[in-house]
Amino acid sequence: KILILDFGSQYTQLIARRVRELGVYCEIHRPDLPADDIRKYAPRGIILSGGPASVEAPGSPRCDPYVFEAGVPVLGICYGLQLTAKLLGGRIDRGAHREFGSASVEVLTARGPFAEFRPGDQVQVWMSHGDRVDVLPPGFEAIGRSGNSPFAAAAHATKPWYGLQFHPEVVHTPQGKAMLRAFLFNDCKVTGSWTMKGFIDEAVEIIRKQVGEEGRVICGLSGGVDSSVAALLLHRAIGPRLQCIFVDNGVLRQNERAQVEALFVDRFHVPLKTVDARERFLSKLAGVTDPEQKRKIIGREFIAVFEEASRDVQDAGFLAQGTLYPDVIESVSWKGPSVTIKSHHNVGGLPETMKLKLVEPLRELFKDEVRVLGRELGLPEEMVGRQPFPGPGLAIRVLGEVNEKRLDLVRRADAIVQEEILQAGLYREVWQAFAVLLPVQSVGVMGDERTYESTCVLRAVTSVDGMTADWARIPYPILEKISSRITNEVRGINRVVYDISSKPPATIEWE
Ligand code: XMP
Repeated sequence: KILILDFGSQYTQLIARRVRELGVYCEIHRPDLPADDIRKYAPRGIILSGGPASVEAPGSPRCDPYVFEAGVPVLGICYGLQLTAKLLGGRIDRGAHREFGSASVEVLTARGPFAEFRPGDQVQVWMSHGDRVDVLPPGFEAIGRSGNSPFAAAAHATKPWYGLQFHPEVVHTPQGKAMLRAFLFNDCKVTGSWTMKGFIDEAVEIIRKQVGEEGRVICGLSGGVDSSVAALLLHRAIGPRLQCIFVDNGVLRQNERAQVEALFVDRFHVPLKTVDARERFLSKLAGVTDPEQKRKIIGREFIAVFEEASRDVQDAGFLAQGTLYPDVIESVSWKGPSVTIKSHHNVGGLPETMKLKLVEPLRELFKDEVRVLGRELGLPEEMVGRQPFPGPGLAIRVLGEVNEKRLDLVRRADAIVQEEILQAGLYREVWQAFAVLLPVQSVGVMGDERTYESTCVLRAVTSVDGMTADWARIPYPILEKISSRITNEVRGINRVVYDISSKPPATIEWE
């Protein structure tokens, strides 16, 4: 396994993704991980990530010098290269040579990350740095150079220590993966045998050990990918000692409850208890129009209902959660305190009072790995590739007051959106597509009748991570079909508008 020390680059997770794509297990840790912890982790190689700071700036992050005493190959990327130079006696030139974007690097020596190339090869790379190395530390030599960086790639003459001024982990360095592969397979001598099948066997063992022979586990199912995969994995490990709980909070999508039941009960025979809490949620939501208020109510009610339902599960000692790796990575933050735009209530953050021990079988995985795992466990494609759906559900897609009648409108409109987007083969391309009901009525005409009914928004966005998003360029004929179906089939909606705002300045959801 490989150790990645995170100096705060926005690309650190990408390094981990690339390494894992090569079939090599790796973990991201804080930059100053102490020597003892590094020893305990026993890495076959260490990668120092990039980072936004300047190694010359006071207080900028450092790694333990043990990194260079551990006797394993080290690859410094960008800040990692500068830090290597700084720690081993080189010199850094601040700021004068900022470089952002594509550059061409000439391979001088086919060693380390460049082992798969030949001297003289021109390699396209992605640069993104302010400082650069001015004088290499003793014992180092350039193995690649670019017009702007005489030390675009460097290596120690005799030790397996390398540095790259550019980012091999991003797609704009098309041969970046070959560089990582060369470093991992030649220098670190790892084999690339880490697969999802192997992961399942290991995870099953770990769960059995943690839970013991008798232990019982409760798992909250939301119908989303993460909790579904976590549940299936647990079921494989402990069978009927798993008890899933699904809360129908009244703000689910059409057929959602039936789908979850069909999948888990009929198909996988997972013990599932559905709690019908529709009335309870809706009565608490009555008259509430403030989005944050809605979130708080739903979060609070969920915890209460879940707690009650789990009390009936005899001898439960564990609570399973679908926590993913990005939520647990310890890393440096160079950003100031961030402002709460929306408080996201997920099935996470559950009752501390429940005194249950946590089982988090996905805490080492990235989202795309969870999908691969889901497929491996037999989860059908439509669940594996499911678009995200917010915890507060349709409550934040009915703007203004939430009641049965308005929920019914948005639910039916949304079902049409889902059907048509799937039908058009756009489900994958689009990050999310859904309907929002506005608290606005407008005049229309149907037959010879005047109507005065609700307005529905069609929202469809493309995005990589939900942090930023652009409105999806859905072809007109599909927009037309969705609009005409909604106005024809959903009595009470006489107008459909298409949201063409990006995030920022808008957000994906309307509330
Ligand atoms: P926004 O609207 O903030 O959404 O651009 C970003 C992503 O988060 C989802 N979202 C939520 N998910 N609880 C959730 O579990 C929430 O309260 C919540 N609000 C937004 C949204 O669907 C999108 O994928």
